Parts: sequence; structure tokens; C-alpha cells
Amino acid sequence: MVYEATTSAPVNIACIKYWGKRDTKLILPTNSSLSVTLDQDHLRSTTTSRVDASFEEGDKLWLNGKEDVIKDGGRLWVCIKEMRAWRKELEEKDSSLPPLSSWPLRIASYNNFPTAAGLASSASGLACLVASLSKLYELPQTPSQLSLIARQGSGSACRSLFGGFVAWREGSDPSGNDSLAEEVAPRDHWPEMHALICVVSDAKKGTSSTSGMQRTVETSSLLKNRLEVVPERMEAISQAIKSKDFEQFAKITMIDSNSFHAVCLDTSPPIFYLNDVSRAIIALVEELNRASGKNIAAYTFDAGPNAVIYALEENMPVIIGAVKKYFPTTEEFEDPFKTQTNDLPEGFDVR
Ligand code: ADP
Ligand code: DP6
Ligand code: CO
Repeated sequence: MVYEATTSAPVNIACIKYWGKRDTKLILPTNSSLSVTLDQDHLRSTTTSRVDASFEEGDKLWLNGKEDVIKDGGRLWVCIKEMRAWRKELEEKDSSLPPLSSWPLRIASYNNFPTAAGLASSASGLACLVASLSKLYELPQTPSQLSLIARQGSGSACRSLFGGFVAWREGSDPSGNDSLAEEVAPRDHWPEMHALICVVSDAKKGTSSTSGMQRTVETSSLLKNRLEVVPERMEAISQAIKSKDFEQFAKITMIDSNSFHAVCLDTSPPIFYLNDVSRAIIALVEELNRASGKNIAAYTFDAGPNAVIYALEENMPVIIGAVKKYFPTTEEFEDPFKTQTNDLPEGFDVR
């Protein structure tokens, strides 16, 4: 009999960025971070895990149809090992359970968006792997407990085990057992909040997040300043989310994105994740906000040139209209708001 489980996990996009590890093996961060998990029906990973006593020995994983080798001691290996250990505990307590923990695994995962392009595929991908194994092994662990394992696959993945607004607490225990994700507010706390994903490039990035942040930790003196200011930002943005204060949410999100990219530039050799189109999007949003007399949109960029613009539903048509006007695309893009407007705020002027 084959046992199999399929799950999906969405991407999360950080407003307060994780960038730097204090422990590279356990993936313990140099700072806490906070993100918004996108709705399941957009950017997501889907993973099927299977076990069968008759499979040839050794676990195997395919990513987007291509085999990804599970290196001994590597991140995928660690996640699988930890999940299997939890299953083994269950089997030891209840001998009527089938011995799934001793059978080889076959895992197939697909992303419905560009992989390794700065759109957080490692976040949805590793969260999904852990979720699918948890379902296959029928584990009782909570999402926060599962986040401890996903974190060891890719730091940002720990936050994708929750929907809505999520914090990853850096923790202080050397074991890493308090470095976990928890919900700040559920999705339905602020249903008016939306994210517009602007794909500037779907190419694989030149510097992976893992190697980029390691270089920053080793060479950037500006990182020290960033680590001093982040705790206040975490506190302030959590408050802004709780009180649904978009103005404040936007201000902190944009400042932290810029602070993260400044630290990348302060790295030696420097890391350039933003390109001219990214910077033009920053200018467009800044001008929209200025001309509106308040922040109606918040840009943020992960480790790549692609922009995510957070905005409240009522302001999305104006923002989409502006993006369509200044960045026309040949491909039709999915617009749930069916934006027709070309109305920009009075006095709007970008050059
Ligand atoms: P991104 O900006 O897309 O998160 P990263 O450099 O952080 O880029 O991570 C990309 C890596 O994450 C991939 O090369 C792959 O090893 C891993 N990954 C991405 N998606 C999945 C998935 N669905 N399942 C397993 N691993 C994945
Ligand atoms: C810029 O989680 O991809 O997206 O832990 O080495 O796998 P590893 O790195 P990863 O880094 C994400 C960096 C970021 C910011 C964030 O998501 O918080
Ligand atoms: Co990543």
C-alpha cells in the first residue's frame, strides 16, 4: 500500500526583512522579521510526498520535474530527518501504526511562479515540504513547532506555515527552539490589504539569499546599525497591523526594504538586487504617495528586482492604473480589479 499526501503553501513577503544568520547550521537569524503570507490561490508551491516499503533505498526529491539531490547533512536532509524522527516517536508509542518512518520517501514539488528569482520560492517550497510530510506522517505538531523544522530548510520558510501577518522571533536559546514563527494577526483581520506582484525579471538571481546574507554578515558595518533599529520597527509595524494603520505600515515597510538594500550595497563585494526598473517603481510609488498626501502604497523588494506593492483594496485601481501606464507589458496581466482608470492624483509627476 502506498501512502501519500499533497499540500500547498503560499509565498510570504517580508515587511521587516530577515538578512543575516548568527548560526548558519541551525539557521538562527541576526534579527526578528515580519511578513505577510499571500493568499493560497496565487504564488504557491505544491508538494506530494509518498512512502512505500518497496521503494529502492534512499529518499528522492524532484523540483519542477527535475531531480534535486538530497545531500547528506544538507537542509533538505535535515528537514526530512527531523520529520521522520517525530513520526518514529508516534510509531514507538502506538505499535498499530504502519512503519512509515522506515520507508523511503519520494517527493515531488512544483512552484507555479519563478524559482530562485527573489519571489520567495524557498519560503513556500520548504514550508510546503514540511507541511506535506506532516500530513503524510499524521503528526500532531502545531504550526509553530513545524516552523522550527521549516526554518532549518530556509529561514523565511518558517513564516509560510501561517497565513496573514506573521513574525519570526529571533529567539535567544542556542538550541534554536525559541526561534519560531507565530501569528501577529490572521488574514481576515485586515481583508482590505492586498499585494500587487510586479515581476521585473523571472531570471534566477546571481547571488542566492544564503550566500548574499553570509557575505553581509562578514563584511558590512552598516548591518550593525540595522540590527539596532529593527526591534523598534518590529514593535511599530505590529502595532500598525493590529490597529490597521496603513500609513504607518507603509512607512515602515518601505524604510525597511531600503535599509535591507542599503546593507546589500554596503557588502563587499556589493550585492545589487535592484535594477533600473525596480528603482523606477520606487520613484512611481513615492510620487503616488506624495501626490495623494498620504501613503496609499508600500513597495518592498526581496533579494531580487521584483517589486511587491502592498495597498488597501480601495487604492489598488489607481496604483494598477499607474503601473500599467508607466510599465506597459505585452502580456495581459491578471487584474481582479479590472482596472480601467488612468486617473492619477492631482499634481502627480514622475520623470
Ligand atoms: P528565492 O528568492 O526564490 O527564495 P532562494 O535563493 O532563497 O530564492 O532559494 C531558492 C532555492 O530554494 C532553490 O534553488 C531550491 O533549492 C529551493 N526551493 C525552491 N522551491 C522549492 C520547492 N518547491 N521545494 C523544495 N525546494 C525548493
Ligand atoms: C530578502 O530565507 O531565502 O527574502 O535562510 O538562507 O534560505 P535562507 O535564506 P532565505 O532569505 C530570505 C531573505 C529575504 C527577506 C525575508 O524573506 O525575510
Ligand atoms: Co529564499
